[in-house]
Amino acid sequence: MNKHLLSAADLSAFDIRRVLDTARHLAKVTDRAIKKVPTLRGRTVCNLFFEDSTRTRISFELAAKRLSADVINFSARGSSLSKGESLKDTALTIEAMGVDAIVLRHGASGAAVRLAGWVQAHVVNAGDGTHEHPTQALLDLYTMRQHFPSLAGLRVAIVGDVLHSRVARSNVLALKTMGAEVTLVAPPTLLPPRVETWGVGIAYDLDAVLPKQDVVMLLRLQLERQTAGYLPTLREYARLYGLDARRLAAMPGHAIVMHPGPMNRGVEIAAEVADSIQRSVVTSQVANGISVRMALLYLLLGGPAVAEAEPAPAAGQAVGT
Ligand code: NCD
Repeated sequence: MNKHLLSAADLSAFDIRRVLDTARHLAKVTDRAIKKVPTLRGRTVCNLFFEDSTRTRISFELAAKRLSADVINFSARGSSLSKGESLKDTALTIEAMGVDAIVLRHGASGAAVRLAGWVQAHVVNAGDGTHEHPTQALLDLYTMRQHFPSLAGLRVAIVGDVLHSRVARSNVLALKTMGAEVTLVAPPTLLPPRVETWGVGIAYDLDAVLPKQDVVMLLRLQLERQTAGYLPTLREYARLYGLDARRLAAMPGHAIVMHPGPMNRGVEIAAEVADSIQRSVVTSQVANGISVRMALLYLLLGGPAVAEAEPAPAAGQAVGT
């Protein structure tokens, strides 16, 4: 593992397996009556969030707390400083207080890379603009592994607002590393420039793609980032690219439906699909996010991978020695 997690491209197949295996072990902590191990006692994690977030921030906070780290939540919304200045000043202030890891969410693509250049602490990118969201990709891969024996050869369609989606970028990188077959499905206006260089399939017709998929991952239509008229109407978008019950029925019986949240019900996903207990794994994704972030913080701050059979290590105790 590198010192930071800035991009899913930082992770080799070995790293990804290590995070996912460690997460599977640490998930057992969440099943206990007392959901805490002392592994990161005395370490401090700062959640530095310049953009709104529900699940990612809470998930990182719970992950750090379940490992007994001290957690500072810094929500920088409302600052009158320009983004670049406020990020650097805030980061240096936090650094001076001696934090071990900074989890950053920021509206500017590349913010996590900049931050990593300014501080000694480990930096985890929790979403930078439209660029990347690597821990979301890790929790998505973990969720896929719960349903399928191997990620290699898995057919995954990522559907919707790819242009604005950091989730799509990180998932494409991580899924390709693991040998999955990814197809992006979107109207041409919601695909990024030079998407053909990403090394994945591209399709415009969702109905043609659905019967061949193991996983269908829907993306939120990011209306807050859409500065131009990318779509005629939301209704038209839902008709062409929304996953409704009819389309769900066209998917193979074993195929699962994913969404990183927050969902626009009735737009990219119909309520009946979102709530389908058999097919939708949206709530599993949220639950798995905690274990995966625990694993990541542990591997960055704590030490080597936890072997399946071993109990979670205590503070200062190196595994395998
Ligand atoms: C995503 C994000 O913020 O990038 N959500 C998340 O982290 N679960 C996706 C989105 O906002 O649509």
